[in-house]
Formats: sequence, C-alpha cells, structure tokens
Amino acid sequence: MSLSFEGRVVLVTGAGGGLGKAYALAFAERGASVIVNDLGGDIKGGGKSSAAADKVVEEIKAKGGKAVANYESVEDGEKLIQTALDAFGRIDVVVNNAGILRDRSFARTSDTDWDLIHRVHLRGSFLVTRAAWTHMKNQKFGRIIMTTSAAGIYGNFGQANYSAAKLGMLGLANTLAIEGAKYNVHCNTIAPVAGSRLTETVMPPDLLENLKSEYVAPLVLWLCHEDCHDNGSLFEVGAGWVGKLRWERTKGATVRHKTHHMSPEDVRDQWDKINDFTNADKISSIGESLQSLVSVLSQVESHEEVGANSTSSVALDSGFNYDAVVGQKLAPSQFSYSHVQCILYALGVGMSTKDPDALRYLYENHAEFSCLPTFGVIVSQDSLGGGLGSVPGLNIDLTQMLHGEQYLELFKPLPTSGTLTIHTTIADVLDKGSGAVILLDVSAYNGDELICFNQFSLFVVGAGGFGGKRSSDKVKPLVPPPKRAPDAVMIDSTTRDQAALYRLSGDWNPLHIDPSFAAMGGFKQPILHGLCSFGFAARHALKQYANNDAARFKAIKVRFLKPVLPGQSLQTEMWKEGNRIHLQCKVKETDAVVLSGAYVDLLPALDQAPEKLPETGGLQSELVFAEIGKRIKDTGAELVKMVNAVFGWEITKAGQSAAQWTIDLKSGSGSVHKGPYSGKADVTFTVSDEDFMQVVQGKLNPQQAFFSGKLKIAGNIMLSQKLEVILKDHAKL
Ligand code: NAI
Repeated sequence: MSLSFEGRVVLVTGAGGGLGKAYALAFAERGASVIVNDLGGDIKGGGKSSAAADKVVEEIKAKGGKAVANYESVEDGEKLIQTALDAFGRIDVVVNNAGILRDRSFARTSDTDWDLIHRVHLRGSFLVTRAAWTHMKNQKFGRIIMTTSAAGIYGNFGQANYSAAKLGMLGLANTLAIEGAKYNVHCNTIAPVAGSRLTETVMPPDLLENLKSEYVAPLVLWLCHEDCHDNGSLFEVGAGWVGKLRWERTKGATVRHKTHHMSPEDVRDQWDKINDFTNADKISSIGESLQSLVSVLSQVESHEEVGANSTSSVALDSGFNYDAVVGQKLAPSQFSYSHVQCILYALGVGMSTKDPDALRYLYENHAEFSCLPTFGVIVSQDSLGGGLGSVPGLNIDLTQMLHGEQYLELFKPLPTSGTLTIHTTIADVLDKGSGAVILLDVSAYNGDELICFNQFSLFVVGAGGFGGKRSSDKVKPLVPPPKRAPDAVMIDSTTRDQAALYRLSGDWNPLHIDPSFAAMGGFKQPILHGLCSFGFAARHALKQYANNDAARFKAIKVRFLKPVLPGQSLQTEMWKEGNRIHLQCKVKETDAVVLSGAYVDLLPALDQAPEKLPETGGLQSELVFAEIGKRIKDTGAELVKMVNAVFGWEITKAGQSAAQWTIDLKSGSGSVHKGPYSGKADVTFTVSDEDFMQVVQGKLNPQQAFFSGKLKIAGNIMLSQKLEVILKDHAKL
C-alpha cells in the first residue's frame, strides 16, 4: 500500500530550494499539509526574502496540495510552529533542513563564521524542535528529522565550524530518540548528498545530474511515516542509494589490575589490541556501553596476581563459552538483615494486619515472630545482579534476562535477623533456541549451617542457538496439578502500590516503578515482580494448609508465565497431595495464569506421626556409604590403581562423633566398611552427617567445605582431591 500523509501537518525548514523544496513537494503530493519555511537569504546566511518559500507554496497549490509559507529564521522556532498550529491546528513532522555554509580553513575561521553556523544548524534545530515537542508528546505522535553531513561524520577540510554543528545535531537526535520513544515521537538523522546551491560550486555538472534532491526525499518521507518504527538511526543517502551507519568498538584491552597500577607504558604496550577491530562490538546504547565497562571493573577486581607486564582482555561479545561457564562459582557474598527487612518483605507480599494471624510476621515483639520462608529468595537474589555480569565466558545482555522459574528449599527456618553467606554456582546453561536458560544454584549459610537453597532459572532472550543441550538433570522440575477441581482457592488483591512496596526488599528494576521504563518494555504500566506473586502464592499455601507456621515450610517451585499489574487480584488454586500442595496462580480479573506447574512442599505437623526413619541410626550418610560400597564392587580394581589410598571417615552428629567408616582403595579391589581402618588411614575426613550429604548431593563443594571448616582433613591432604571423583561417580543415590 502506498504511504499516505493525509491529515498530517509537516514543517520543512529551509524549503525554499534544494533538498527542502523536494521534501515539501513530496509530502504535499501525498496529502500532507506543509509549512514551507525559508528565510530566503544567501548561502552564507545574509539577506532575507519571502520569494523562495512563496514559490514553493504556489507550486504545491497549483498541483492541488495544501501549503502555507513561513519566512522566519529557524532561530525563531516558536513562530514556525505557530504558523503550523494557526494554519492546520497541529504539527506531526519537523524536518530540520535549513542550512548555510561559511567554509574557511580552521585558522581563518572567525567568531562569526563559527557562531552563525551553529546558530542556524544546531541552535535552529533545537529551537524549532523544542517548540514542536510538547505538541507531539501530547498527541503521542511525532517524527523529527535532523540533517547532518558527511563533513561532520568524517571531517572535511575547511569545514570545522560546519562539521562541529552538524555532528552536534546527531548528538541531539540520539537523545531526543530516547526521550521521545515512549510518546511515539521518533527522531532520525540523515546525511544527504545532493546537487544544490550549497554544492554546485564544488561538484562537476555530470555528477550533480545524478545527485537530485528527489533521490533523497523518499527516505525522509519513509522515516516520517507512522509505519516506520526506526528511531535514533543515522543514514547516508544520495544518488538513489540509502545506507545505515552505526558505531563499532574494538574488544579493547584491560590494562589496569587490582595489584597493578595503570601507566602510559601499559597503554602503549597494548596499543595493537586496543586498535584491533577484529570481532568489534556494535554498541547501540549508553547502557550497553556502561554494562561492558562494569564487567571490566569486576575483571580488574578479580585479577589479583597479575605480573607487572601482563594484561588480560575481556571478551565483550555476546554468547557463551559453555565449558568455561558451567560450574563457575560467583564470589561469595553476604546478606545482613534485621527484623525490619523481614517485616517489610511480609508487607510486600501482601501480609496484612487484617488477618490477626499475620501479626507473627509483622510485629517483632510477637511471641512467635518469624520470617516468611520465601524471604529466602531475597537473601539470595542480592548476589546475582553484579555477579552474573562478571562471569568470564558468560557474555550476555543482562537487559534481555527474564526470570523463568524459581525453586526455594529451606533447611532451617530463616532467622529473623543475622548475616548469611551466599554461595552461587552456575549449575548449567541450556540452549532453548530463542534464548538460553541459566540455572543458578544459590546456597545461603548461617555460619556453617545451610539455611536455604535457591535455584534461579533465568531466560536470556536471544542468547540461544550456541549448540547446547536443551535440558539438564540439574533442573528442579515443575509438577502439573492433579486433573480435578482445586481443593482450595484463595483470593487476595494486590494494591496499586504493591510493586512500589515490594521493591524495597531489594529488587530495584525500574520496570516495576517507572512508567516510561515499563513502556519501553511494552507494558502499559509498571508490572508486579514475579517473585511478589510467588510470595503471595506461598503465603496462601502456608495459611491454608500449615496453619501459617513458617517452620512447616520446606520448598516451593514455580514457573512465571505472565505479568501481574499492581492492583489486580491474585487467585491461588491449590490441590493437596500428601505434604505437597500443587499450585496455580491466576489474575482474577483476566483469568490469565501467572504461575504454573507450581507446588509448595510442607513438613508434617509435629502432632502428626513422624515418618519412620530407616534403620541407619538416624544418619543419612549410612545410605551413601552403603551405595559407595556397592559401586566399588564393579570398578574397584581400577579405582585402587588410580587412587591407591585408604580414606577414613568420622561422621559427626550434633557435634558428637556418630560413626566411623573406611573406604579402602589400596588393597585388593577395594572395599567399604563401617568402623576404623586397621592400620593408619592415609587421610581422614571429619564432617557432620548433614554436610556430608550436602557434599554428596553436589550442593557443597569439598574445597569450599574445607575452607569454611565444615570438612576437616588429617593426613595426606593432597589425596582429598581424589575425593571428588569418588563421591561424584560412586555416591549417587
Ligand atoms: P540549500 O541552500 O539549497 O537549502 C538550504 C535552505 O535553507 C535555503 O533555501 C536557505 O534559504 C534556507 N535557510 C538558510 N538559513 C535559514 C534560516 N536561518 N532559517 C530558515 N531557512 C534558512 O541547500 P541544500 O543542499 O538543500 O541543503 C539542505 C540541508 O542539507 C542543509 O542543512 C545542508 O547543510 C544539508 N546538507 C546538504 C548536502 C548536499 O549535498 N546538498 C550535504 C550534506 C548536508
């Protein structure tokens, strides 16, 4: 379909001749009402006449088009826009085109040469555009063109003043594009080449013949049409050709390190690398630019032992280095909180004094004051933001990251205050084609004690297709609800300020508070945090099936499907199957499912008969040693060759020695038996039953356990390195 401008009001500055005239005629031909502005002066900015604009208006009218003339200088921007409003009642398009030249070699450029050029090109474009801006914003439509020049982009002898002003217009356009985006006010820039009075003296006639202004106008019209969504772009155009420009940045080199100061010599020595455009990055926003700098900063920080002359470079391209990324641990972090954060979080997920039973989560002097179990995600999420951006080999655009799923398991009720240490591991990265899923396992410890474990499943849009696997046994799976009507339903309304309140618990993403930021993401208003709905759902299950008792909460898993708007009501549907409560959460007003495949696992109530423990003296590790014993039978001979050592084990429970075990990989084809070794074990490990299970389940890495004092090693410490092999391959339950 042809592009119509019927009903649109278009201002073209400097439309008395050259390019501007071609634009004005083309817009009018397609139905626009055109304001033909031209001061009618000479090429250097002198003089004034109404003739130029009048002639173009006449030509448009003769063809049946709509146009009015304006003879003001662009320095009187308001008056130009006023002409549009007076004649046609609105302004939709501004083409900043008026221009003059005062070419001089730099040394001979006078103040007037400089100022006049800036006044007409840069300041004029500013004043005209500012006068139109509010009208465009209010009507939620506007298209603005800035006219730059190859002289600005590349430089040109004798045009210092003009180059500076012209590239200034590009900078102006870049920011207008950002500020106008949410109002559908777009600003693009063109660098045209055309035969006109500005160029006729410098170009041969044959060439000029092929550089008609009519070959530039179609791009300008397209960029100004409502169907064109380009914004903040730069095009070169001429002779019937159109091309787009963008910035490129080399991978660069990090020449500073934590232990090494940066010197001019370091820069000199890295010069080739700094200048090497191989695999250059195409940075398109200040956010991307700063983001990569942030990752450089963390590289600098993490580089402790770098020789004086050595340097490291940071790969800033997008994509994954799977082998380098999976298994990586982020730097441990700490999260300190008091009862204030616990209460703030409870309010954030809709806990209210309307329910007398809620007081135990809202009043620090309540006899049973507790921290809501799902606060476990808050203590753990803090470590993500900065940490992920700095993982070598994980070069992702954090702005493209969506929260896909969440698993939380509690091993102890969360303390109501304290400092937890957070250990984060990239458990796996999955390739889902349209994106990648990063599985982050996060364990929070109170001293030696594991308090909770989170698995964040993060979907990075556009980062897939790296040839990775689609699924992983590390994923905590979703479970669909039973196929029957829910056993219980709870409905709770969120407030208009739910997200504003929830964010105070530490998720500062502006998507949840800033209307313009939300608009950029395509939302009509800021949306509720997925983890806030998650908190609501968990609270409902706890209330419905566990008497609101935090101590009975074991685990929760959810998938986030759709956003919730603050003010909407959440409807949690629940199915009880033993101690598992299956969940589905909907927005009541729209019936849209927002959390799916979800469940909460509860611990049995104390007054319920406890499950009978297997005959293991209550030690979980017994089962594991039995399993290791079984498996060693198959591969023992090989292991004996490889390891050639005897491992002694002291398993403790509540600080007391509870069992001794021997894994003998020195004699025969290996064996496992309960009790001490008859001779002297090569190495002896002392560890609590709980921590042993953590290690075996891969939730605690042996080195980490050692450094945090959870695993004590006596004897040949080097042999402990072989421990991981044994545990990994032989202790799977
Ligand atoms: P032109 O000289 O034919 O058109 C410029 C028009 O602007 C003239 O009609 C002039 O009277 C008007 N004008 C000058 N000062 C004004 C003011 N203060 N207020 C209102 N109107 C004023 O030149 P041309 O080639 O059509 O240039 C149009 C634009 O394209 C200019 O901004 C120029 O810098 C730019 N440009 C042109 C190139 C070319 O190859 N023709 C190359 C790169 C940029």
